[in-house]
This record gives sequence, C-alpha cells and structure tokens, in this order.
Amino acid sequence: MGGKSPGRRIKRGPTLAERADRHRLYQDSVQCPEEDVTFYTSVFGKLRGGRRPMILREDFCGTANLAVQWCLSDPKRRAIGIDLDEPTLAWGREHNIRPHARKLGNRLKLYRANVLDPRREKADVTCACNFSFCIFKERADLKRYLKLAKEGLKQNGLLFLEIYGGSEAIIATEEDRECGRYEYVWDQHSYNPITNETVCHIHYRFRDGSTLERAFTYDWRLWSIPELRDLLLEVGFSDVRVFWEQLEDTDDDQVEEGEMIYGSGEYEDVTGKEVEQQESFLVYVVGVR
Ligand SMILES: C[S@@+](CC[C@H](N)C(=O)[O-])C[C@H]1O[C@@H](n2cnc3c(N)ncnc32)[C@H](O)[C@@H]1O
Repeated sequence: MGGKSPGRRIKRGPTLAERADRHRLYQDSVQCPEEDVTFYTSVFGKLRGGRRPMILREDFCGTANLAVQWCLSDPKRRAIGIDLDEPTLAWGREHNIRPHARKLGNRLKLYRANVLDPRREKADVTCACNFSFCIFKERADLKRYLKLAKEGLKQNGLLFLEIYGGSEAIIATEEDRECGRYEYVWDQHSYNPITNETVCHIHYRFRDGSTLERAFTYDWRLWSIPELRDLLLEVGFSDVRVFWEQLEDTDDDQVEEGEMIYGSGEYEDVTGKEVEQQESFLVYVVGVR
C-alpha cells in the first residue's frame, strides 16, 4: 500500500519564553530595591546630619518594587509611586503590593500620572531609577521635570538620578549576563552622536533555546553627568553630588582579556574628584535641595 501515513501532531508545551513573565524577569535581573533603600538612607544621613528619610517618591515607578521595599524597611515610612502605564502599575499592585497589603496599610500610594503633573505631597527623597528621565530628549523638558522634582521635595530633600555612561555607552553593542535559569541581554541597538539619542532593548534567552525578544524597549537621550549637574543647579538645587558605582573586587592578574567586571552595588562619593573613564559605569547624580 502506498500513500503517506497520517501526520501526527506532536504536542509540545509552551516554551520557557512563552511561560515567562516579563515584569518578574525585569525585577529579578535589573533591580535591587533593598540596596537602593540602604543607599538613599545612608546618603541622606551623611548629608543631613544623621537624619532618617521617611517619605519616598518613586518617579517612573513601573511595578513600584522600590516604593514597596521602602515602606517595608520601616513601619513609619511612606511612599508614593508615579507611572504613566496602567498595566505595569496593575502588575505591581497584584504582585508587589497585595502580598504585603496588611503591612503596607495606606502608607503607599500609586498614581497613574505623568511625572510632569504637579503634586502636593512632599518627599524627603525622590528617585528616578534606571535612567527613566532620559525619556526627556529636550533640555527644556528635562529642566521642567527637575524643577518640579525640586518643588516636590521637602526643605532638606534629595533627588537621586541614576544614569549610565562610559566609552561603550555611545556605541551599538550587546552585553549578556547569566541570571540563573536565563540570560539577560542589554542591546544598545543604536546611538546617534548628533543628538545623543539611543534606542535600547532588553531581551531574555532561555535554556530551551526560546527567547523573549525586545521584552522592553527604550528610546532615550543619554544625558551626561555635567549636563545633569548644570540643569540641577539652574533649577535651584543648592549642591550636586556624584556617587560612582565601585567595581567588584577582582584580582587584576586573574582577569582575562574581554572578561566582564561587574559593578559591586557600592557607591563612592566622587564629587570634585577625577575619575578614570570606564567602558561602562553607573552613577547616581544627587540634587541637594
Ligand atoms: C525604565 S522603566 C523604569 C522602571 C523602574 N523605575 C526601574 O527603576 O526599574 C520606565 C518607566 O517610566 C514610565 N514613564 C515613562 N514616561 C513617563 C512619564 N512622563 N511619567 C510617568 N511615568 C513615565 C514608563 O511607563 C516605565 O514604567
């Protein structure tokens, strides 16, 4: 008998990429909110005579992971989180806030709003993490944001702006990092030296060969430290300090050509100092009200 045997459909389960939750991946691979809380508290204490900051405003808060950790770090602490994207905020309410609802009480407020909308609540610390303010591409827009951020701070408040840079920040390049069961990929897709505009993506690659391409995409202007400093002073901050992330301790002789050295999560106050250029660096530029 000729003819083909009947085709058999092989039922396969969903791939790891299909089963993944991009917000969970982002939180686990990008954020360290406990370290951020410790860092802000320590800088505030040093610059403000040992005082402890109690109210945090997390601008561009996304899933509000940091705002939640802030409140959990002290039963008297309060936070507000502001983000434009309702689905992201909803994920944060479900996965970050609900499990701690009793502890948090009414100490955490999330607003679906533009960070450019004026707000009445004043904070001890305002932060814009993971370069989020780079969404503002015009100097006038960033200046407006910084002015509003200053007005939203209490008299002794501090504004923490997280920014990256370095000789590899201004080229198209891809960097990957093992994160346990998957690989995190930072894809600097394009960079335009005329405008300093850059488009970056985050991808996730899994052990079964599946990938979550462009899980997140950012279209930014990469601001430099001196540009931020000038703007902060222009809008009336009394001082600007720069905190530079230290590299992991390595035995220099053991580091092989091309091997990555990662940041340690520890920051040094380098204000007024000279620092050697790195291929990539992370800093906090802090506006002192
Ligand atoms: C890079 S994510 C940062 C998430 C989180 N803050 C972090 O550090 O990982 C940027 C966030 O900014 C939000 N966003 C962009 N423009 C905004 C604006 N004008 N006002 C409020 N949120 C904004 C986006 O919805 C997104 O959730």
